Amino acid sequence: MGVRCLYSLWLCLGVAELGDLVKTHENWRLHQAINLQASENIMSAEARSFLSTDFAHRYTLPEDLVPGLTGLKNAYRGTKHTDAMEALSERYARELFRSMYASLKPLSGHLAAFMLLQASCKRGDRILVISAAHGGYDGYMPGFLPEYLGLTVDFLPFDDRSWNVDAKAAADAIIETKPRLALVGASLILFPYNLRWLRGACDDVGTVLGYDASHVLGLIAGGEFQKPLLEGVDVLSASTHKSFPGPQGGLFLSNRKDLFDRAMQTFLWRIQDNAHWNRIASTAQVLLEMKEFGGVYARQVIANSKALGKQLDMWGFPVKFASLGYSGCHQIHVDQTALRDGWGLTSAQFADRLEANNLIVDAVGRIGTSEITRMGATEEEMQSIAGLIVRAARGEDVRSEAAEVRSRLRMAFVFPS
Ligand SMILES: Cc1ncc(COP(=O)(O)O)c(C=O)c1O
Repeated sequence: MGVRCLYSLWLCLGVAELGDLVKTHENWRLHQAINLQASENIMSAEARSFLSTDFAHRYTLPEDLVPGLTGLKNAYRGTKHTDAMEALSERYARELFRSMYASLKPLSGHLAAFMLLQASCKRGDRILVISAAHGGYDGYMPGFLPEYLGLTVDFLPFDDRSWNVDAKAAADAIIETKPRLALVGASLILFPYNLRWLRGACDDVGTVLGYDASHVLGLIAGGEFQKPLLEGVDVLSASTHKSFPGPQGGLFLSNRKDLFDRAMQTFLWRIQDNAHWNRIASTAQVLLEMKEFGGVYARQVIANSKALGKQLDMWGFPVKFASLGYSGCHQIHVDQTALRDGWGLTSAQFADRLEANNLIVDAVGRIGTSEITRMGATEEEMQSIAGLIVRAARGEDVRSEAAEVRSRLRMAFVFPS
């Protein structure tokens, strides 16, 4: 066999191996597994199809984004449909979230958060955020984004019993310490924030009120959880793929022209260059779906979280906040101490036992209901899924029953094709 033949064989094997991996993953995660990770969701076929359109290959850079380009109209050509699509998607976002200004350019929730911090603060400023110990996003902790931007971080007072910012104490802290930015929103989130108290305090001392809606964007899109921009938030950043069932990406909203303009001015070439227009087209499709079906979707997500929490509790599985109805959003929290002491499992071991049964939860103690709700699950399925979780955690093999539940689920909240 010649060298060229061997090389072709190696190439064919490589192509087959890669193709097999993609297919096997798709088959498992889309058709066999029940996904209960709070950070993930699933797109409609229409939104998915936009990801592989020609927009995936293109650039656009209109002259209003770069003063030096004056007279060129755009640094690129062939951009008229891309620019029109971006304008349309921003309009959909503004209308759905009731914000005056919107950008879908950030490639992720993290970069949207970067944009929010950079728009609101200057080097040397102090910010108040929710600590990671209370579920706050790690990216806001000292040593990460704030260090990069030269910001000092303090923590908002938090009430463990209600798993929420202690609004009155937080308002006092804002008035006393006058931070540049007070930022709510978290990764382990359960209940809406009392924004009225925070808004009043921010007004008194000229602090920017920010909201990281990465986890709860899909609920906000449906008019549930809370309405941050109507409740007085100045700037909002978010992921578009957690409770909001879009492609992985970011969103930045504001009702303040000065902050939005500053965000856009500091965005290009500091945070990002091109914006991935296929993702934006796909996100726009999901914005339309949420405008039409978001209310029913969001209410069902919350109802499912409450039902799942209650049923798990009835089976004796340790979930938190029973007295508060377990959850007001798309996640419920496992009591990790009780799991270790009563069941002999760390949260990673619990996640491993479930994964072996095609039930996917994260290893940090959250169980999420967004994706299964998107797949049409209601309170009835929550009864079955709670039973499967408990039995899998005990070490039983529930794969065939999980497959049976999965086979009953069908994508919901989409336009008829
Ligand atoms: C509250 C919060 N903000 C921001 C992010 C970052 O989002 P992304 O993964 O879209 O960059 C996360 C990630 O989990 C998050 O939980």
